[in-house]
Amino acid sequence: RRSTTSSAATKTYLSSRGFSSESAPERKVAILGAAGGIGQPLSLLMKLNPLVSRLALYDIAGTPGVAADVSHINTRSEVKGYAADEQLGQALEGSDVVIIPAGVPRKPGMTRDDLFKINAGIVKSLCEAIAKYCPNALVNMISNPVNSTVPIAAEVFKSHGVYDEKRLFGVTTLDVVRAKTFYAGKANVNVADVNVPVIGGHAGVTILPLFSQASPRANLSDEDIKALTKRTQDGGTEVVEAKAGKGSATLSMAYAGAIFADACLKGLNGVPDVVECSYVQSTVTELPFFASKVRLGKNGVEEVFGLGPLSDYEQQGLKPSSLS
Ligand code: NAI
Repeated sequence: RRSTTSSAATKTYLSSRGFSSESAPERKVAILGAAGGIGQPLSLLMKLNPLVSRLALYDIAGTPGVAADVSHINTRSEVKGYAADEQLGQALEGSDVVIIPAGVPRKPGMTRDDLFKINAGIVKSLCEAIAKYCPNALVNMISNPVNSTVPIAAEVFKSHGVYDEKRLFGVTTLDVVRAKTFYAGKANVNVADVNVPVIGGHAGVTILPLFSQASPRANLSDEDIKALTKRTQDGGTEVVEAKAGKGSATLSMAYAGAIFADACLKGLNGVPDVVECSYVQSTVTELPFFASKVRLGKNGVEEVFGLGPLSDYEQQGLKPSSLS
């Protein structure tokens, strides 16, 4: 079902991306964990994305309601909900992009590592299904700890003989979103113009925003940079504490996840110069997986960019000793 009339708002959105609804190729996106705190707003945002023609929503609980609700929105994609384990294959089949926000979130006092035991098992079983039903999909891993769930996914894909390092992404976009917001506030510049690369990993001090490369440039003191860095690193905890036991970031994460999936779709569709930070297999440092700027294209990762010039403070943040 493709809508034959599109609203002015949709048209603007389409033309800003250089596509008309007629020329955008068919693309299927699957969201695993679609009924969760992140999954629901992410499903909404992906339903609003005109690059998506089929949207598969999968969760072990609550999917029919979310799918029925989202499916009434008059945008391009056809929405289907998949509830039980035996429907996972159907949900995944033919997917171009699979987004995984399935798993448990943090409560106050927990680190992302505390989630490892439960989420590692969930990610493993979901990746086994991806290996079987859509081995060529671009996988956007949101489930924490991303620093570990991405290597786990890689091992699962390897054991099934389908691993392609160009197609596996840890979603660190929320760190970038936070760094941009906090920088704009401190530097008093228009947030819409701000760019800040964030490298490293996705947990505490492994998150390393490169404010020395931020644009537009601003003359911030060392103290300001330190405070901004710390706030970006602790952004997740700020939300966990404010939610006081009701979970972690969901709305801002859904936004970040939608931005990253959109970038993947644009890359697949051949839009040039699509660059986002992501936690990918990497040779930029001695670590096997590392977040840095990557160029997205028709095969997923087209290029992993180096780190560029770092300030002394950022160099320090990169040292393993700063992790202890
Ligand atoms: P939530 O508990 O609200 O939702 C998780 C959903 O996953 C639930 O609907 C649950 O039924 C579903 N689920 C559990 N096992 C499943 C399985 N085997 N297959 C399919 N679905 C399954 O949690 P929330 O807040 O949505 O967070 C999800 C994950 O995202 C957590 O691991 C959290 O730590 C992570 N996260 C990652 C961020 C990032 O920057 N990468 C930021 C914020 C959260």
